[in-house]
Amino acid sequence: MCDFAPLKNDLFIRAAFCEKVERTPVWAMRQAGRYLKEFQEVRAKHDFFTVCRTPELACEVTLQPLRRMELDAAIIFSDILVIPQALGMEVQMVPGKGPVFPKPLANPEDLKTLNQTPDVDKELGYVFDAIKLTRQKLDGKVPLIGFSGAPWTLMAYMVDGGSSATFSKARSWLFRSPNESKALLDMLTDTTIKYLVNQVRAGAQALQVFESHAGILGSSTFAKFSLPYLAKIATQVKKQLSDLGIQRVPLIIFAKGAHYAIEELSATDYDVISLDWTMDVKRAREICAKKSKALQGNLDPAMLYAGVDEICSATKKMVEDFGVTGHIANLGHGMYPDLDPEHLKAFVNSVHSASEEIINS
Ligand code: CP3
Repeated sequence: MCDFAPLKNDLFIRAAFCEKVERTPVWAMRQAGRYLKEFQEVRAKHDFFTVCRTPELACEVTLQPLRRMELDAAIIFSDILVIPQALGMEVQMVPGKGPVFPKPLANPEDLKTLNQTPDVDKELGYVFDAIKLTRQKLDGKVPLIGFSGAPWTLMAYMVDGGSSATFSKARSWLFRSPNESKALLDMLTDTTIKYLVNQVRAGAQALQVFESHAGILGSSTFAKFSLPYLAKIATQVKKQLSDLGIQRVPLIIFAKGAHYAIEELSATDYDVISLDWTMDVKRAREICAKKSKALQGNLDPAMLYAGVDEICSATKKMVEDFGVTGHIANLGHGMYPDLDPEHLKAFVNSVHSASEEIINS
């Protein structure tokens, strides 16, 4: 591992491990993105995956939101779909449409066409280079979060070929071809473990796993086709980092829509359970407190369309609901492209002021 400057602001790390903090740390999913005009300026000149693949550009857009507001963490600019690319699939980012796979996995026979054991350093070295560069540029200001998509969510895109409300093609595989589905999920799990371990070796100080499409599975399907893979990723990443003598980093799981699985997720090796805005904070707190897990979330991103005063009062309520121990404030999902950056700033500042008020009272 390289030598980087020590952290000046480690609130995020302490909150993730349920340690004492002076104020609640806050960041936002998709904090780098189209709602920032400086991001759009970069995107006007460079294609989406060119930004991901060019460490200087990925680093620049990672740092952009931090120049505007007092965020307590940065997240490396990349995408979950770099893993399907590393397995040999083509992915295009089509403006107004989102990701498109020109040749999705049409049937289980197509698994043979994948590069099943990719050389992660070779295929995804550009992500590790972007992480190293960003750690240098951050100079210890705040921690840098690495991330990956969870196996089921990646499978959903690889089979359906792009965004979908139902991912019915991928869900049909789970029932029509369960064994082949498990083979694909195993393959994705193994690559993800290597990818996440190497992100930490490059300098990532926390990791978030995005199971963005947990909600469409339902509890018994989630228990079979998502949870075991999520659990293995956390256990293996922790074990491999410890075997390498690397200091533990917080692992966050964001299983969007998985109301039914908070208890099961709290029994895995993740340190932080991230809640979307539809989840019950009180219930999650009760379940997670028993396992000493921290929580992340969960303001409805659409709340940022409200006026600043309303944002401040909703944020204050959120901070009170979670409590000031073991909470990382965030939105319940990512920033939308037409949100006003000043409204995100109001959210960030309100998290800080509301939590300081509680802690100092
Ligand atoms: O700031 C950050 O949070 C880091 C960057 C980041 C991006 N994608 C950049 C991005 C992260 C963490 C992701 C994760 C990601 N990518 C997820 C999981 C999180 C979630 O939203 O549930 C998923 C499902 C993807 C796949 C993906 N990438 C989709 C479905 C889309 C299109 C949706 C949209 O908003 O248009 C993308 C594109 C994408 N990834 C953009 C950004 C900034 C916008 C595309 C652009 O700049 O043209």
